[in-house]
Amino acid sequence: MMDRDNELNAWDRDHFFHPSTHMGQHARGESPNRIMNGGEGVYVTDVNGRQSLDAFAGLYCVNVGYGRTKIADAISKQAHELAYYHSYVGHGTEASIRLSKMVIDRAPANMSRVYFGLSGSDANETNVKLIWLYHNQIGKPEKKKIISRKRGYHGSGLMTGSLTGLELFHNAFDLPLDRVLHTEAPYFYRREDRSMSEAQFAQHCADKLEELILAEGPDTVAAFIGEPILGTGGIVPPPAGYWEKIQAVLKKYDILLVADEVVTGFGRMGTMFGSDHYGIQPDLITIAKGLTSAYTPLSGVIVGDKVWQVLVEASDRMGAFGHGWTYSAHPLCAAAGVANLELIDELDLVANAGKVGEWFRRRLSDALSDHRHVGEVRGDGMLAAVEFVEDKDDRRFFDPAQKVGARIAAALAERGVIGRAMPQGDILGFAPPLCLTNREADIVVDATIEAVEAVFPG
Ligand SMILES: Cc1ncc(COP(=O)(O)O)c(C=O)c1O
Repeated sequence: MMDRDNELNAWDRDHFFHPSTHMGQHARGESPNRIMNGGEGVYVTDVNGRQSLDAFAGLYCVNVGYGRTKIADAISKQAHELAYYHSYVGHGTEASIRLSKMVIDRAPANMSRVYFGLSGSDANETNVKLIWLYHNQIGKPEKKKIISRKRGYHGSGLMTGSLTGLELFHNAFDLPLDRVLHTEAPYFYRREDRSMSEAQFAQHCADKLEELILAEGPDTVAAFIGEPILGTGGIVPPPAGYWEKIQAVLKKYDILLVADEVVTGFGRMGTMFGSDHYGIQPDLITIAKGLTSAYTPLSGVIVGDKVWQVLVEASDRMGAFGHGWTYSAHPLCAAAGVANLELIDELDLVANAGKVGEWFRRRLSDALSDHRHVGEVRGDGMLAAVEFVEDKDDRRFFDPAQKVGARIAAALAERGVIGRAMPQGDILGFAPPLCLTNREADIVVDATIEAVEAVFPG
């Protein structure tokens, strides 16, 4: 290693507080670090010149792939023209206005306005405030509770970390906060009663939701938030009929629906939005990641007509909307968003995600479904997961202390492919850039087969 790299390595251990990282092991040099410095297409490289096929697109966000000069040029041009101006009190830039129009043009029906933030977490914080404001304005101030799902992921702020239904994000921080409730995860493979069919399980999830609403009092429940397909909770497509049944319950009790499309927005399911794919009619939609393919941080809340009308009435009564970030609709981020959405159209990436995603999932399933330690190969669009079990017939999971998922992800990385050990369960997740080719999908599948053989020899 060159001196500069030794120095960087030492500074990394001594000064950089990494998110989602074992602090002690990192500081003591007991866990590997990796310093990245390049990317092209679906490949990233590190300072040691090691190249990896990134089959998780960063954190399922670099949807157009790495090294797109069109986006880099758009950011540079905007920085030279006007690096910053705020969007408070009616101000804006051409990029932020143009991007709003492009988002609404692509959004599902009945969507009205886009509010821009910087992360999926802050966009969901905005959602929660809009939901509370909405109910205050319509004279139902007691409607404040928000229902999310076990294994849902909605961020790691105070409120959004509470909405997230994963223990790792709660235990150390005295979360969840009150006003947040969790209902059944739509996770067919892990259903408690294994005699249930998929249709019965979808009905069971809707029944559990209704039970919870009735137990809490329908007059206290404001909204339901869900990802169209569970992401960080394990990459789990919903059981057939799930969204139809859930939406019927929400309608019955006048509960708003937030579709958290941070992962699924802008093409990952082979449709522009996951809501289109699964027949969801949300009141609010959370967007981030694919909006700029992470070339800059940018998120948003797409507000449906019904909520927007009430927000307008609220400001006629109370004055200006008391919410905003300094960097809301930051011009550099908006310029990246415009270029990114143009690129998605030019390269026909939504259709590619559907086509190559299907090829990738089929090949993964053909290669691994019969393995003695593979419980399920699943996915939809350009999302896939392999769930490992100790005993396939009894569906007995491994002791988490064995870290099977992490070991397989590490074996895969050694073979030059990045997948992700999902945080709860022995689940290897894939969310490649939407520009993946069949040939690149084959490389991922072949490396996965080798990684599984390395961890379970014989
Ligand atoms: C569905 C979903 N919502 C929200 C978030 C939070 O986004 P961020 O990490 O940008 O705060 C994520 C992040 O992975 C996500 O997957």
